[in-house]
Amino acid sequence: MLRFETAGESHGECLVATLTGLPAGVPVSAASINHELWRRQQGFGRGGRMKIETDQVEIVSGVRHSETIGSPVAIIIRNRDWQNWTEVLPVQAAPDSEEKKKPLKRPRPGHADLAGAIKYNYREARYILERASARETTARVAVGGLCKAYLSEFGIKVLSHVVQVGGVRLERPAEWAEIEAVNQKPEVLLNCVDPGVEKKMKEVVDEAYRTGDTVGGAFEVRAHNVPVGLGSHITWDSRLDGRLAQAIVSMQAVKGVEIGSAEEAAASFGSKVQDTIHYDRGRSEFFRGANKAGGLEGGITNGQDLVVRGLLKPISTLRRPLESVDLDTREPALAAYERSDVAVVPAAGVIGEAMVAIVLAGAMIEKFGGDSLTETRRNFQGYLEQVRKY
Ligand SMILES: Cc1cc2nc3c(=O)[nH]c(=O)nc-3n(C[C@H](O)[C@H](O)[C@H](O)COP(=O)(O)O)c2cc1C
Repeated sequence: MLRFETAGESHGECLVATLTGLPAGVPVSAASINHELWRRQQGFGRGGRMKIETDQVEIVSGVRHSETIGSPVAIIIRNRDWQNWTEVLPVQAAPDSEEKKKPLKRPRPGHADLAGAIKYNYREARYILERASARETTARVAVGGLCKAYLSEFGIKVLSHVVQVGGVRLERPAEWAEIEAVNQKPEVLLNCVDPGVEKKMKEVVDEAYRTGDTVGGAFEVRAHNVPVGLGSHITWDSRLDGRLAQAIVSMQAVKGVEIGSAEEAAASFGSKVQDTIHYDRGRSEFFRGANKAGGLEGGITNGQDLVVRGLLKPISTLRRPLESVDLDTREPALAAYERSDVAVVPAAGVIGEAMVAIVLAGAMIEKFGGDSLTETRRNFQGYLEQVRKY
């Protein structure tokens, strides 16, 4: 089974992750993982923190001579900002550390600040926001990079694009080639496949900047070349749609998930939403009339592209702060302001890719097993042969 865990505070020394369960022999390139980390830092609407950090992965175990060796892979990503926080967040208390704390006493609506402070019995929310922050997703993206490397050995690719910023939506489906092209651009604006729509999206973010507000949106993750038969209909927790939904909604600020054309389907008649089944005798292959199910039926991949969307609420921290209460005086007060992003939809798309890649890699390992990539590949090829002969 594939397992991963992350640790680290937003302004601590570093982020840490372990990934256990990858077979031996998966080629790993730190440069490719760093490229994923770079992609997570891009997009119009990011705040000052992303100017400080240039995320770089350090792989400290589980990879030797550029290949996994079957043991847990451990990684570190250092926080450059840590140098400004060593006295605020020391591991060992010093005599003057109480004065150097940066307490957050006016909890920000939409954040874990108040609920977390009450739950963990703190009189202020500093330690809560340090861990609730989406800085944690840097570690997820690095783990996703390892899973992408594994998936690419089987020809599976995972990418994302932005389909909505505020009220501006991409109203048409995107081709896989378009998604590949927009993700190859050396500069990321809002990662939308349609430049006209992207321009309107930028105007929405501009308005949020101007008015001290924030804005959300939606990203779409696509997995291409996925084999039929990952996940299962047999139990609630083996359904791949359920696992993907959990993975996507576990992301900070994501409040909704859509598999395929779920929203459109809910408003349509059944005759318009199911993907009709056909057979190509020349190629001896089944094919579908459309892909409205997003590549999943009964929680099982059906061989079409996997299509998963994440819906992001607007960023909670506003330059124009919302009403809150001072935790000491219990009097009304404006919420605290911590340096913040204004819009993060392209970055969220990259994190969504990582989460989808992690779930897919887990489903592949479950189905095809193998302690070495050679063994997994043999099992995979045998299964493809069985599918071909079906
Ligand atoms: C890539 C990314 C960057 C984020 N940056 C910020 C930020 O700068 N300021 C902020 O208030 N929230 C930011 N968020 C959202 C918060 O982390 C999130 O809203 C908060 O932790 C509360 O959790 P919840 O919204 O999931 O309930 C970001 C989210 C993502 C995915």
